[in-house]
Formats: sequence, C-alpha cells, structure tokens
Amino acid sequence: MANKSWELGFHLRSPRNWLNDPNGLCQFRGTYRFFYQYDHNWPAIDQKAWGQFSSPDLIHWTYEGVPIEPSIDEDRHGVFSGCAFVEKGGASDGGDLMRVYYTGNVVDLVPGHSPKDFDYVYAGREGNTITCTSEDGVNFGPKQVLLRNSDYPEECSCHVRDPKVWEQDGCRYMLLGARHKDTRGMCLLFSSDDGLNWTFMHPINSEYSFGFVWECPNIVQLDGHEYLAISPQGLPRLKDRWFNRWTPGYFELPEGQRLIDTEVIDERGFEQWDFGHDFYAPQIFSDEKGRTLLVGWMGTFDEYYTSVPDDLDWWHCITVPRVLTRRADGRILQNPVPEIEALRGESVALAHGIPLEISGRCCDLVLTDLKGEGMVTLDDSFQVLYQNGRLGIDYLDETSGAGRKGRSIPLDELHDLRILVDGSAIEIFANGGAETFASRWFGPELDHISVISTFSPAGITYPMTNTMAKMYATAQAPDLEFPGWNETINR
Ligand code: FRU
Repeated sequence: MANKSWELGFHLRSPRNWLNDPNGLCQFRGTYRFFYQYDHNWPAIDQKAWGQFSSPDLIHWTYEGVPIEPSIDEDRHGVFSGCAFVEKGGASDGGDLMRVYYTGNVVDLVPGHSPKDFDYVYAGREGNTITCTSEDGVNFGPKQVLLRNSDYPEECSCHVRDPKVWEQDGCRYMLLGARHKDTRGMCLLFSSDDGLNWTFMHPINSEYSFGFVWECPNIVQLDGHEYLAISPQGLPRLKDRWFNRWTPGYFELPEGQRLIDTEVIDERGFEQWDFGHDFYAPQIFSDEKGRTLLVGWMGTFDEYYTSVPDDLDWWHCITVPRVLTRRADGRILQNPVPEIEALRGESVALAHGIPLEISGRCCDLVLTDLKGEGMVTLDDSFQVLYQNGRLGIDYLDETSGAGRKGRSIPLDELHDLRILVDGSAIEIFANGGAETFASRWFGPELDHISVISTFSPAGITYPMTNTMAKMYATAQAPDLEFPGWNETINR
C-alpha cells in the first residue's frame, strides 16, 4: 500500500493514473471547470484525453470524468492540451457557451521508417487544432477541425500545439506553441472574427534561439501591461535558474506594446515562474471576479525524479490556483487564491526553535516581517532555508525527494514566507509571491507533521481541512478506448 502521508488534501490529482497539464481552465456559468491531461494507459504515457473537476468555490471539488476523448481521425492518438473560451450568450438558451480549443495529436508510422528510428519532428506527426462546445460544461457537441499542419507556416516543424484563445478589442486571437524547423521554439498568432475561421497573422520568435520548442503559450494582461508566457523545453541548466530542462516563464513586453503586434521577443527578459522541481505547463485564465489566475502542473517530464516512488496508483497533481498581480518593476506576483484560507483551522504560534506538532498532513505556515536567516524543517525530512543570501529547499534524507536534490536561488532579502504543505505537495511563496517553489516531498508515514522554525520573529501555523479525501475515495477515472491506437507502431 502506498504511504498515506502522501495523500493530497487540497490539491487536485487524477483519482487514478496519470495527470499532466491543466487544460480548459474557466469559470463557466458561475462554476469553475478545470480539465487536465489524463492518461489511462499509465505507466505508459501515450494516450491523452481531458479529465475534469468542477467547483463552486475553488476549494470543494467534484470529479466530472473524462468529457473529451479521442473520437475522430484528427485526434486519434490524443486530445492534447488547449483552452476554454466562454462565448457570452452563445448557447441555445441565451446563456454562455463553453468553446474549447485543443490539439488533436496524430503520430503515424512513416512509410519506409521503423517506428523506433523516426522522431516525428519533421514528418509523421499531426497537430490539428480542433474545437467543440458545451452548454453545461460536461457534455460536448461534435468536433470541428479548424487548422491542420498544412495551415501552419512552412517554417514550422510538425510540432505545433496547445491553442490559447482570447478576445481583444472585439476580435479573437489564438496563440499556438511550435518548434521551428531550425529546432528552436516559437509561437504562431492567428486571428478570427467568429472563433471558427482563423487567419494566420505572424510568428512570434525570440531574437536568439531560446529552447527547442515552446509549448502551452498564454497571454497575461495585468494593469495595462502584456506578457507572453511559454513553456520552453531545452533551456540549459544554470547555477541560479532553469534547474529543470523544461522551465516555464514569461516575457514582459515593452510599455504599451500589445502581444498581437509583437513578432520578436527579447529572450533576455525571460522570468521563470517557479523554482521548484515540479512545475510545468501553467495555464492562465480570468475568472468572473476579473482575477487573473494561474494553475500549473506540479510535475514535469524528462527529469530522472519523475518516476513514482512507491505503490501510488495516481501520479502528479496541479498547484492551487494562484492570483497573479503585477509588481511595479513588472515582476508577476503569485499568491494562493484567498479562498484557500477558508480551509484553515485554529492558528497556533510557531515560536523560534520550539518544535510544533500539527495533526494531519495538511498545513499552512505563515511567517512575516522576517529578519535575517533561518530555516523551517518538516519532520526532519524537508527544509526551507534562507542562508548566505540564498533561498532554497532541501531534502534531508535519502528517500523523501525520490531523486530530487536541494536547490536554491539568490535573494538579497527575505521578508515573508508562506508554505502550503499538503501531504506530498509543497508550495512555497516568498516576498509577497515574487519567488515560488512547487515541489513534491515523500516524507515519513505519520498522522501529524512536526515543524520547527529558526526564523525570527515567530510565525503562525494553521492545520488545513482535507476537502479531497471523499472525492478521491469515490471517483472512478475510466479506462478509455483509443480508436486509432496500434500498440506496435504508435509507441
Ligand atoms: C506539455 C505538453 C503539451 C501537450 C501535452 C500532451 O506538457 O507536452 O505541449 O499538448 O503536454 O500531454
């Protein structure tokens, strides 16, 4: 049996099997709907569909099954990532219509090639842009293929995917992530009057090559400033940043410049979203309160520590929703949505150097007005530390990182720290959300967490209510039929 301490109490995971990118995030007719990349075939990771959770308040969630799965030729090897666009008053009852856009993945054997020696970069792969709609958020109508590889510019390899659609000044725009034939990341920008007929506007490139592919592009608009957010693969691992080979982040555009008018990005302005081990493919959306929210995949491909540490029958989770705000210098601050605070139990002071036992495995630690160095240690196993001008995390025993090793970033001053501990998911927010770390921690099997802090002044701890246990115990994530799947050629 898997270690019960690794269960999640307020983070979303698939009830079973594999989860990656958050998809189709929206608030639709008042209800939050979070889709995610679901693979029923895990531990093989090759058959993607969209699972879904819904919530009235971002803390109480219902599992909604797998509303979108492969069913047409153009998505026969996977319903890949994409977004939801809410069409105001577009439904038959006069209410809002949810229109999703996603990539239909097709990987076919190329004649004359063996599946083993073909890389599906220059031929043999389709990234079709597909749409379908729903009036209730769960049941979707017929799929319509909007764009095929032949509609993308010549300069692109077959890797084109992850549509993000938004409206600006009465027109709709779509960003797609792509890989240039020269093996560098780029985006494509399209426009449309009706959300169905799309015209290519221009590519968005960096001045100098920046990773070999850009996935999951997003636009961020805060206080009249615009940003392009991307998930690039293939950045070099440096001492102070880009610790993962897949490191998402954003570029702020020059004052007054719109993304739709931007063709070249200065890659030197890249800001990394999160410095933890487990963070990729974040998606950004606006809710009905007008807030800009980000949700990231707490996972990554391609790192040695992505294997499952024990007998878990599920793998990976997503971050709590983070509210994005803009700091005067352009940095985007990320903080947990305030709704999370409703899960807090009675507060207990965390005094300097005195161990505290918190019952359960979920807690929220808040340290403010910090002066100088210090560390917070959980169960003698996981540590958040600020020392020698660096803020970092560390795993204190052999197994609890499951291959993850300590990492840190330079930071001149640490003013505040918030640590969300949720079984095996930890999210850290420092300096008002200017620096964040999302990492998994596979700590000891206990019914409590012991916390000790050497920071001054004292902090506050809150036990957190577990709102997920019931859903995870009862939800049934299904096995799917993949119509076009051929065991031998599609691997
Ligand atoms: C990012 C990504 C997307 C793709 C999806 C497939 O993690 O590679 O580009 O659509 O995952 O699951």
